[in-house]
Amino acid sequence: MRGIVFMGDGVAEVTSELEMRGPKPHEVVVRMVNAGVCHSDLSLINGTIPFPAPCVMGHEGAGIIEEIGSAVSSVAVGDHVVISTIANCGRCSACARGLPTHCRQSIGNFRMSYTYKGERTSAFAAASCFADLTVVDAIQAVKISNDVPLSSACLIGCGVITGMGAVLNRAKVRPGETAVVFGVGGVGLSAIQALRLSGAARIITVDTIAAKEGLARQFGATDFIDATQVESVPATIKALLPASGGAMWNPGGVDWAFECTGVPRVLHDAIESLDWGGTAVAVGVPAGDARLDIPIMGNFIYIDKGLIGCRYGTARPHHDFPKIAELYLEGKVLLDELVSEVHPMEDFHTVIEHMHTGTLARGVLQF
Ligand SMILES: NC(=O)c1ccc[n+]([C@@H]2O[C@H](COP(=O)([O-])OP(=O)(O)OC[C@H]3O[C@@H](n4cnc5c(N)ncnc54)[C@H](O)[C@@H]3O)[C@@H](O)[C@H]2O)c1
Ligand SMILES: [Zn+2]
Ligand SMILES: [Zn+2]
Repeated sequence: MRGIVFMGDGVAEVTSELEMRGPKPHEVVVRMVNAGVCHSDLSLINGTIPFPAPCVMGHEGAGIIEEIGSAVSSVAVGDHVVISTIANCGRCSACARGLPTHCRQSIGNFRMSYTYKGERTSAFAAASCFADLTVVDAIQAVKISNDVPLSSACLIGCGVITGMGAVLNRAKVRPGETAVVFGVGGVGLSAIQALRLSGAARIITVDTIAAKEGLARQFGATDFIDATQVESVPATIKALLPASGGAMWNPGGVDWAFECTGVPRVLHDAIESLDWGGTAVAVGVPAGDARLDIPIMGNFIYIDKGLIGCRYGTARPHHDFPKIAELYLEGKVLLDELVSEVHPMEDFHTVIEHMHTGTLARGVLQF
């Protein structure tokens, strides 16, 4: 079978020499139809996100159930599913509280389900969506309506849930609040449209590529800042939303700042863009040695500002994925508009090149 294998040292190979074992009792085999290429796939190749090689890449995919393990009853052969990267146990305290992304079993899962040229090969993010077939825990196969085209549905599995979930599940933004989104990629655009759904009064967006403005506004942005054209992004944001009174502790700015670039300096700007009481949400993934260096007193103490992290949109995949699909079918969530181009798996490196130009919302692979 075909797949894309990360070989280590910056190398990703498109191959037809992959083999995969069958499902264990609690697993399912999914015939992949489409998969989005997320920035985290680039980060795997360039070493920002460490993961042992060789591994079958891809973690944002959708397909059709091909085979089910003997203990599986949640899906049937032929069902359309979006793959969740959260292989949570379903039994621990975090799972019982509806927080599967806090389940200790949901990370660091090195399932060795493939062999490549005879060598045992793992599944990136427990998902390995860049292959004709993948084998995942049944809990990772989330059934969605057959009416959603899989080329759009696949994006729910990472970029869409990460951005929308950061706003709706983690921040729980309320009507009338103000926000800035840094990075107008697949994740950032999803955050922007969740802010629109939340009734945010002001949705400021920031990117280093001016051409992203049209997409940002299409998804709900009220303002766009080209970060290359201003001296200080936080000062520009504070000028758009000036303080209503007083001058101590640098007032003015937004209630929420979503960092969706993975650039450490941008998280700094996100915190500095907040008004008193505001919260920055760290969504982008920088390299493991990245550090934040920011004055504590003027930013957090006395004025109730905060910084929180967010993994995978604090998702409850079996609740959130079908809900997003429903909202798409009602015309309230844009998914097709996130798909900038669709390519056969063999053109993977073309998608990577286009990602480096920065103009894509998402490039999608077709199997
Ligand atoms: N927390 C999670 O669970 C999770 C899940 C998925 C992706 N991510 C991370 O989220 C980030 C975004 O992913 P994506 O797929 O949307 O990426 P993307 O490449 O599609 O988009 C990133 C955007 O950020 C812009 N950008 C780059 N530098 C900037 C800067 N200094 N200021 C403003 N904008 C800048 C780029 O021009 C681009 O438009 C990545 O770091 C990715 O690894 C995190
Ligand atoms: Zn991703
Ligand atoms: Zn658990």
